[in-house]
Amino acid sequence: MSETSKHQLQTLAVHAGYSPNAEANKDVASPLHLSTTFVRNPDGSSSEYIYTRSNNPNREMVETKLAALEGAQTAITFASGLAAIHALLDSVLEPGSHLIIPDDCYHGTRAIVQQILSRWQVEHTAVNLADPQQLAAAIRPNTRLVWIETPSNPLLKIADIQKITTRCRQHQILTACDNTFATCILQKPLELGADFVMHSTTKFFSGHSDLLGGVLLTNRDDELTTRLREFQSTAGAVPAPFDCWLLNRSLATFPLRVMQQCANAVSLAAYLHQHPRIEQVFYPGLPAHPNHAVAARQMRGGYGSLISVLVKGGQTAAMHFAGRLQLFKHATSLGGVESLIEHRRSVEGPHPISPDNLLRISVGIEHIDDLIRDMEQALGD
Ligand SMILES: Cc1ncc(COP(=O)(O)O)c(C=O)c1O
Repeated sequence: MSETSKHQLQTLAVHAGYSPNAEANKDVASPLHLSTTFVRNPDGSSSEYIYTRSNNPNREMVETKLAALEGAQTAITFASGLAAIHALLDSVLEPGSHLIIPDDCYHGTRAIVQQILSRWQVEHTAVNLADPQQLAAAIRPNTRLVWIETPSNPLLKIADIQKITTRCRQHQILTACDNTFATCILQKPLELGADFVMHSTTKFFSGHSDLLGGVLLTNRDDELTTRLREFQSTAGAVPAPFDCWLLNRSLATFPLRVMQQCANAVSLAAYLHQHPRIEQVFYPGLPAHPNHAVAARQMRGGYGSLISVLVKGGQTAAMHFAGRLQLFKHATSLGGVESLIEHRRSVEGPHPISPDNLLRISVGIEHIDDLIRDMEQALGD
């Protein structure tokens, strides 16, 4: 299938990156290439593939599909979301650079900045990116990159991507957006001016909680993109062929899963919003969310399936509630077919910032009536 074709996302999710007719055996399901090394031509020159750290047919296949889904020219995959984040930060920043990150973002991103980049004299400022004034005040002459995460983890803050990228371009500052929570089904940061998009493919793209991966996507065709591609192979945090194969297979059902998860989340957020035992609900699809209007403009077809709640009665009540749920599993991670709930503060390392009564919910594809019934019994007496 031609990757330049104008097919819809659902069609690309099934077909992009693989053509059975081009395969020797005409396999309808894409084959798995586990080999780490490839035979050279008789004259010693290399064929298309040399060594799997540099490239592999399964990696190439899934990168082509991911690029098609995001509307990007280039997709560069990694062994995890954090490996992708690290690759970008390492390639863009240098000693003396300044970086702006959201005050609410995945704690692992914060850990890279605080624990790794600080040793290389990279300065950073954490601001509420939902407030344009805070971004303006944080920009310095040496600011090289603004890292956006919207909706943010775990408070579901919404930043106006277009506003941020427009301001950053005026200052020659690069922008990268962690699009893991929204996915390319709901939000296209490259179309809104971002230089780079990053996803933890561990989450919605994989959708079955059975692989780790990350990807960087860009439409830039320059030295920086070449550096990122080289970093992938040189630093070596590449995804295994089996994980690429599994991801490629899971992507076929990704649009269907996300739409069901979003529909479930809207109903569940409305249910929790009116529940007397819930102090506050954070969900961009609720009209009560402070940036609901921005979310409605920049997200299309849904608001994602992550909901955070504050439970009345503090940490003890929150843990009691999580422990009584039957269908929702008390486990970290998100984006899978199964609904999960998690006490965020417990996993945020030595410097947690989430309130102690905050639970983050990842809504799966189960029937909404069963999910609400499970919440009902767990919140009851
Ligand atoms: C928003 C976000 N970005 C990045 C990551 C890191 O991804 P990974 O666990 O694949 O390294 C996560 C993980 O939970 C995440 O939630």
